[in-house]
Amino acid sequence: MDKTINDFNSSISFDKIMYKEDMLGRIAHAKMIGECGIIEKSEANKICFELNNILSDLNNNLLSIDESQEDIHTFTEAELTKRLGDTGKRLHTARSRNDQVVLDIKLYLKTQMDELITLIKNLIGVICDKALENTSTVMPGYTHMQRAQPISFAHHIMAYAEMLLRDISRLNDTKVRINKNLESDSLATYKIKRNLTSELLHFSSPTDNSLDSVSDRYCCLELCSDLSILMVHLSRFIEEIIMWCSWEFKFIELDDAFSTGSSMMPQKKNPDIAGLVKGKSGRVFGDLMGLLTVMKGLPLAYNKDMQEDKEAVFDAINTVKMCINSFTPMFKTMTVLKDNMRRAAAGGFINATDCADYLVKKGIPFRDAYKITGKLVSRCLELNSTLEELPIYEYKKLSNAFDDDIFKSISLENCLNNRCVLGGPAKSIVENHVEKVKTFLK
Ligand code: ARG
Repeated sequence: MDKTINDFNSSISFDKIMYKEDMLGRIAHAKMIGECGIIEKSEANKICFELNNILSDLNNNLLSIDESQEDIHTFTEAELTKRLGDTGKRLHTARSRNDQVVLDIKLYLKTQMDELITLIKNLIGVICDKALENTSTVMPGYTHMQRAQPISFAHHIMAYAEMLLRDISRLNDTKVRINKNLESDSLATYKIKRNLTSELLHFSSPTDNSLDSVSDRYCCLELCSDLSILMVHLSRFIEEIIMWCSWEFKFIELDDAFSTGSSMMPQKKNPDIAGLVKGKSGRVFGDLMGLLTVMKGLPLAYNKDMQEDKEAVFDAINTVKMCINSFTPMFKTMTVLKDNMRRAAAGGFINATDCADYLVKKGIPFRDAYKITGKLVSRCLELNSTLEELPIYEYKKLSNAFDDDIFKSISLENCLNNRCVLGGPAKSIVENHVEKVKTFLK
């Protein structure tokens, strides 16, 4: 083949990372075709022995991967043949390279998904620790980016822990489907024992349609999709962190190790690492979109277009790993500026709903209580006051249901801790939630 065309056609530069999976798949296949009598058992043993040697040589850098080969599958076959001659050549019976590609990817993705789950669990653990330190840290809860009701910082960040828990659950679901499959002999001509290979490689069962087995890339699509959703979560979390770092909020301060200076403005501390993680979400979505586009018009079964699967899914995996590895310590080391959060909570009438609820408890219909409280807020604005600072006679002017105990009802701490329904922000509820999550992580 012409050199330029050979480079264009080859995938070894990126599929070489699956060398271990390729070897394990070959060893299982050799054992199985030996069992079936497709090759002599003695030959199967020789092949397995030599494949293990090649694997150990590669692991110990005693053998390097020849990148003039088209892909990792042709490389391992050439190496085996170099070492065993005709016996080596016999392994490629009842199996196509298209089978090997899918098997290798699935084995590789299974390991990668376990690593990803460990990283996400670690991040959730860090969020839980930060939450436990902040169950009494009052901050404004927002809707439409407007201060709404008092919550705790713990309650806010545990929302992200929940999103990440679903990301783990999604990855586990994907694993179930990846685990149910194994490919062997794409056009099904030999009487092979697929259950045996499936067992040897720790899959739960073989697949039920040979064409489907080699021609779908749901494993890459699902993983890229799971990772895209995860990146949406990280990205939203980061957008809030960047906002909280600004002088307009100043709810948190990032550690110097995770910030950069400006080249011109000496006062600046930029949340560059956070910004970069957020930006990387575009890459992961791109990997998913690219893969969907590659797959959408392909007739059955294997088509060379599908060689594009690997770079996309590998890039998504590596990007997400880098992002979590940067985000976790950045989040762990940031300082929570509790006083600033409390000040913001005190300033936005976020206890107005609690004031209305107070009147409801005294027998006033909520719609009327809502109007009375609205008038109180207007009065506060006229007097440049907060509901806590407004004198009791201003309250009594609008309704004689008000008494001195109103101030207790609208204190931010009480407002927070009265919301003690399951899923709410009260200290005891959030502590239980963190406990539940920590038990799951264990
Ligand atoms: N490197 C190719 C891939 O990753 C291998 C499959 C090519 N198969 C073939 N029959 N030409 O998809």
